[in-house]
Amino acid sequence: MDALLIAATKARENAYAKYSNFRVGAALETDDGRIISGCNVENATYGLTICAERVAIVKAISDGEQPRTFRRIAICADTGRLTPPCGACRQIIWEFCGDIPIILVNLAGMTKEYTARDLLPEAFDDSLLT
Ligand code: THU
Repeated sequence: MDALLIAATKARENAYAKYSNFRVGAALETDDGRIISGCNVENATYGLTICAERVAIVKAISDGEQPRTFRRIAICADTGRLTPPCGACRQIIWEFCGDIPIILVNLAGMTKEYTARDLLPEAFDDSLLT
């Protein structure tokens, strides 16, 4: 399997999902081929939960990766209907990654690929803030 999908699947194992028990992993590929992963991190207040995709992106930016220097993102969950990113994550993916491929995968190895634009048509972004 593609190393990026393997990384998302492996990151899922670190999920802190004690409230929903819904474990998610994400893996972001940089333009030069490195991989930065994340998992969902929940909280007793529920609302402070952070999705796997946002954890991966925030880790990358915080470590000094430049915005819009990412090639692909993969998302892994254990669902038959592959789990797409939530609305908030779509907006964050758009902000930091632009129109990259978003690859969904499950534990059975099923995959489905979208683009960020497929999942967030007519996106709001900085091009409107003139
Ligand atoms: N979750 C993600 O990590 N990514 C998504 O795009 C969908 C939802 C997490 C948040 C929460 O910990 C759990 O899945 C159930 O919503």
